[in-house]
Amino acid sequence: MINEKDYLYKISAAGRVNIIGEHIDYCGGKVFPAALSLRNEVFVRPNGTDKINISWTTLPHKISIDIENLEKYKNEPYANYIAGCVLIAKRAGKKILGCDMVQNCTVPFGSGLSSSAAIEVSTIAALAKIAGEEIDKVEIALLAQRAEREYAGVNCGIMDQFASACGKKNNAMLLDCKTLNCEFVPLNTGEYSLVIIDCNKPHSLIQSKYNERRAETDYALSVLKDKAKISCLAELSSSDFNKYSHLLSPKVQNRVLHVVEECKRVNLAQTAMKAGDMATLGELLNQSHASLSRLYEVTGREPDALAYTAQGHPACLGSRLTGGGFGGCTVSIVKTEAVSDFTDFVLKQYNKKIGYEAKCYLTEIADGLTVSNLA
Ligand code: GLA
Repeated sequence: MINEKDYLYKISAAGRVNIIGEHIDYCGGKVFPAALSLRNEVFVRPNGTDKINISWTTLPHKISIDIENLEKYKNEPYANYIAGCVLIAKRAGKKILGCDMVQNCTVPFGSGLSSSAAIEVSTIAALAKIAGEEIDKVEIALLAQRAEREYAGVNCGIMDQFASACGKKNNAMLLDCKTLNCEFVPLNTGEYSLVIIDCNKPHSLIQSKYNERRAETDYALSVLKDKAKISCLAELSSSDFNKYSHLLSPKVQNRVLHVVEECKRVNLAQTAMKAGDMATLGELLNQSHASLSRLYEVTGREPDALAYTAQGHPACLGSRLTGGGFGGCTVSIVKTEAVSDFTDFVLKQYNKKIGYEAKCYLTEIADGLTVSNLA
């Protein structure tokens, strides 16, 4: 139990679901995520030392981080993300003061719903608050992304940290990852709900496979840049893809084709959401999943079983893997009145196929970063 009165601030940052636009943020594409009510909260107070003392409500760990020696926590489970945030904030010239932090994370770890982004964004905002600095959400998202890349070693795009910091209740975000221009699009799902189910696959190697995909698209850009006159892969047109794809190996061609088509699907998806056309949105989700499975190869047996089972339910208009992949969650569009029938069906069928349980999360589309004064 946390006694809120013992702390000065409560900083809360969101997990996220990505409705569509997968593995294109680092290609400069537009993505369509939304912030969740599953979150990481940081309760924080200054302690007048040069140490950051961290504890967790959900873990038995406790650790004291030395502000002067931040490199040594890279292999420290859980604390590594926080030490990374402190180091990056410090390198960016931010004032860092000793403090006590309690971390309360309700984003399930390893679910593909961006627990790490929620932890990073809330931690960096907590450091800023304690140091008396302005909270600039976009700047915090960018620092959080650097912490993930430079300290945790995942060469990620900006989608997760941006959604975690800048999300808005009941809105999806059409985020242009090249310019960081963000348009909020009200969730207009009518009689339908977004349902998030975790395949619960115990996953490993995500980091290296993620970085491998990223390297493949970086390579493709280096080959196509001058020929197609593009500055990022998301700018590649279908006709230029057809013209130049012979310059790439068949595998890299598939990766690039996913990027080109997923970018188009995001545009169609936001139009569908604005029109309340859930049938079209659902169809786009299905196409996105098929592309992630066959062309980008980031799904695997369990996410495929989960998405295809969901797609087979009559009340489901579409279902796809959300997030980085190799495990994690699906997002499905389901007739609200049939949600419990749908989840029963999917959980049972999944267990039959895979041999262990999937898990459905009850969550809403919520605000990004929030700061409360507790004193
Ligand atoms: C992870 C990364 C994001 C994004 C997604 C895939 O969540 O952190 O930047 O690349 O995978 O869309």
